[in-house]
Amino acid sequence: MKLGTLIMLASLAFAANHAIAAQTAPPPIIPLPAKVTYPAQGAAKSVALTDRHVVVCADGNFAHIVSDTLHRWSDIRMGIYPDAATARAANAKTITVDYASAADIPELRNAEGYSLEVAASGDVSIRASTKAGAFYALQTLAQLLEKGATGGCSLPVVTIHDAPRFVWRGFLVDSGRYFVGVESIKRTIDTMALFKYNRMHWHLTEDQGWRIEIKKYPKLTQVGSWRSSSPSWGDRSKPDGLPHGGYYTQDQVREVVAYAKQRFITVIPEIEVPGHSSAALAAYPEFGNTDIPGYAPFVQTTWGVKPYTYAPKEETFRFLQDVLDEVCELFPDAQYIHAGGDEAPKKQWDASPFAKSVMQKNNLKDANELQAWFLRRIEKHLNSRGRQMIGWDEIQEGGLSPTAVMMVWRDWKWARHALDQGNNIILTERMHCYYDYTPGNLPDDPYYHLISAYQKPPRVITLEKAYSFEPISNGIRPEQEKQILGSQANLWGEYLYDWNKAEFLLFPRAFAMAEVTWSPKDARDWQSFQSRVPAALKLLDKMKVNYQRADGSAALPTPTRK
Ligand code: ACM
Repeated sequence: MKLGTLIMLASLAFAANHAIAAQTAPPPIIPLPAKVTYPAQGAAKSVALTDRHVVVCADGNFAHIVSDTLHRWSDIRMGIYPDAATARAANAKTITVDYASAADIPELRNAEGYSLEVAASGDVSIRASTKAGAFYALQTLAQLLEKGATGGCSLPVVTIHDAPRFVWRGFLVDSGRYFVGVESIKRTIDTMALFKYNRMHWHLTEDQGWRIEIKKYPKLTQVGSWRSSSPSWGDRSKPDGLPHGGYYTQDQVREVVAYAKQRFITVIPEIEVPGHSSAALAAYPEFGNTDIPGYAPFVQTTWGVKPYTYAPKEETFRFLQDVLDEVCELFPDAQYIHAGGDEAPKKQWDASPFAKSVMQKNNLKDANELQAWFLRRIEKHLNSRGRQMIGWDEIQEGGLSPTAVMMVWRDWKWARHALDQGNNIILTERMHCYYDYTPGNLPDDPYYHLISAYQKPPRVITLEKAYSFEPISNGIRPEQEKQILGSQANLWGEYLYDWNKAEFLLFPRAFAMAEVTWSPKDARDWQSFQSRVPAALKLLDKMKVNYQRADGSAALPTPTRK
C-alpha cells in the first residue's frame, strides 16, 4: 500500500473514531441522564446562549426561577414572556417550559422526569409533568452551559429524556453534635439541589445537644442546647473546655423548610427515641429512668453511645407526643418523620423496676421487646397525624413494625430482613454511605481529624468506593427494588468543627450518591463518572463551596482554631 493511501486510511479511521467519540461522549452532567441523543453527524453541535434568549413560561413564579438560575450560571439576564407567540413576535430565541403529560416520552410519566431539547435553531424546550421535573431540567441545563474564555455562553445541541431511578435521594445534616448555622444549611441545600437530591434528613436531637425550639417545653433548648465542653481537634480524649450550643427557633425551622421546598427538597426531621436522649433528659429528668441508682442526666461532652434512654412512662409518651405534634406542624410536607431507634443501650431499662413492671404488664419478654413496644406507640401517634415513621435498623430488635420504613446503616442482613418482611427501606450502609468516614489522602492538620482515626482498620470511603455502591446487591433481589425508596449520604457531625469541613467531606463523594440514586443502573460507569467530575467541581468553585481536590487538598482555605 502506498504511503498516501495509508495516511488517508489512518486519517479516515481517526475521523470515524472521533465522530463516534463526539457522539457518544457523556455530557458533562452529574447525575448522568437516562437518555441522551446528539444530532446527526454534520449538524450543528452547539448554539450560543445570548441576551436574545427569553424565558417562556405561563407559570410566573417558575419563570423567575428559570431566569434567576440561568443568570447565576451565565451572567445573562433574560426577559420573561408568558407565551411563545409574543416572544416570537419580538424575534427572540426561546427557553420554553411546558408542564405536559406527554405520553410519547416515558420519562415524563415519572413525577420528577423531564425532557430537555436544545435545538440547532438555538431554541430550548423543557417539558415535565410537574414543576419538580422542570426544576431538574433546569439543573441539567445549568450543567450543560459552557462559558467561553471571552464570556460568551454556549449549549450543546442535544435531546435528553430523564427520570430518577429512586424517589429518595437524601443527605443527612447532623445538627446535634455541632450546631450548624442556617446559612450553611441553605448553601448545602443549594448545592445538593444542583445534583438533584430531594431529601434532607435533619438530625435535630442528640446526647450532646437538642437543637429545635419546642414551645411547650422551653427547657429543651434553654438547658438541652448547651454543653460545657467538646472533644479537642486532633484528640477526642482531651476536653476543649469550651461551651458549645445553639438551636433553631421555630421561625428558622420554617425558613429552612421553605428554602428547601423551593428547591424541591423535603426536609425530614429526626427526633430520637428511646436513646440519644441525654440532652432532653438533662432538661426534663422526670421523663427518664429516675428509679435507677446514680440517675443524673446531663448534656454530654464526649462522643460515643450513652446510656440514657427515655422511661416507658405515660408522662414520657405525653411529652414525646406533644413534641412530635409541634414537629409535624413545622414540617407539613414531611410524609415521614424519623424517630431514630439506633444505639439505645438497654442497661437502664434492665435496672429500672418501673421499666420492668411495664415489660411484665405488657407481656414483653425483654428490653428489646420493650423498645419495639415503645417505638410502636410513637409510630401510632405519628400515623394518627398522617405521617409514617422511619427508624434506623435497630427497630427490628424485638420485632419490626410492618408499616415502619427502615433506614439500614449497619449490615445488609437488616436490609434483606426488612425487605423479606415487606417493609420499605432506605439504604445508607455505612461502608459506602457514611461520608464522615475518611475519603483518604487527608491534609496533615488536626482540623482534618476524623472518626477514622479511632477505627481499626480505618474505614476508607474513596470516591471510587462511594461510586461503587449498588442498592440491588448483597442478596437483595431485583424484584425488591420497588421496596427500596432510595439511599442517602450520611454526614455525622462529631468532627465537623466548621461547615467548611462538611463540604470537604461531602464533595466530590456526594456526586457519587447523586448518580447512584438517579441514573439507570446500566448507565453507571466509573470511567465516565470520573470524566464528568471536573466540570461538576467547577460549579462548586463558582458557588465557593469547598471540596477535596484529587490530590487530597482542600479547595478552600483551612480555618484556624478558634
Ligand atoms: C447511626 O449511625 N448510629 C445510625
